[in-house]
Amino acid sequence: MISTLNYINTTFHEDIRVDVLNGMTASQKSIPSKYFYDARGSALFEEICRLPEYYPTRTELSILKSAAPALMQHFRKGDIVELGAGANLKIRTLLDTVAANRLPDFRYIPVDVSETALESSVAGLLKDYPGLNLLGIAADFTCHIDVIPAERERLFVFFGSTIGNFDEDTGVCFLRSISGSMGKGDRLLLGIDMLKPRDILERAYNDSAGVTAEFNKNILRVLNRELGADFDLGRFRHRAVFNEEEKRMEMYLQAETDMSVNIGSLAIEVYLEKGEGILTEICRKFTREDMERTARDAGLDVRGWFSDPKGWFSLVELEKKGG
Ligand code: AVI
Repeated sequence: MISTLNYINTTFHEDIRVDVLNGMTASQKSIPSKYFYDARGSALFEEICRLPEYYPTRTELSILKSAAPALMQHFRKGDIVELGAGANLKIRTLLDTVAANRLPDFRYIPVDVSETALESSVAGLLKDYPGLNLLGIAADFTCHIDVIPAERERLFVFFGSTIGNFDEDTGVCFLRSISGSMGKGDRLLLGIDMLKPRDILERAYNDSAGVTAEFNKNILRVLNRELGADFDLGRFRHRAVFNEEEKRMEMYLQAETDMSVNIGSLAIEVYLEKGEGILTEICRKFTREDMERTARDAGLDVRGWFSDPKGWFSLVELEKKGG
């Protein structure tokens, strides 16, 4: 049996103009981290995931390897919905626990804003998991949960601690939108990076090969291209620091000189002082209590908790409250 990939395509267009206008005219200048991920940014992120200092990806994968049989024992057929189609090693780990003759009982539904990301995420799966059903959904999963089919039991997966890139309120809101769409028997498997000593965190976001610095600066390339801006990348420095009070890593692009930047299609000029930082990303780090509170606020119950021996990363299995 041959697997096929179908598409649902929403007419969503992200409004980079509004986001950048709001962010670059605020007192703490910022650019939303979702704009990192053009083709180059996505490739740089894949490279980050392989860096020795960046522990989250391989730690999460090792947890998933040992938890997959237990997880899939409860989920014997239905739709596996991956929010944000990443490299598909993690999905493969789940699918590898399914006997070949049972693959047709499952459908893999990757959801991503980028159709290119969807295609590369599933290309190898089509070949390696014959009989598996596939449905790609090109949509912004932060606001289009409703387009995901709900006629079968669903296992949502949201890997990589991407939830940590949302502030607390946005994270709860997002999880609430998922729990609101969940039916009885549906589950959400959520990857979260745990709070740990500053030096380990800061090393993970300041790698010695400078890949994270390139990834960070790439967001300025995106603005130059998409908005006709004239950011001079050579005059910015990558800075990633742990904010202990907020329990989060913060990534900045720090101006190395006073400068003014023209953002052509917004018809604005932005002034930066030497040393001033543009906030490009927050990466929250969780304690178990934080996560349990967030789940409660979002109408979810914790059903299972899987961690590595050092407790650096966790996979949390959630279900709708009272489910
Ligand atoms: C995608 N996200 C979960 C990564 C993180 O760790 O917050 C993005 C990243 N930024 C720098 N390195 C990795």
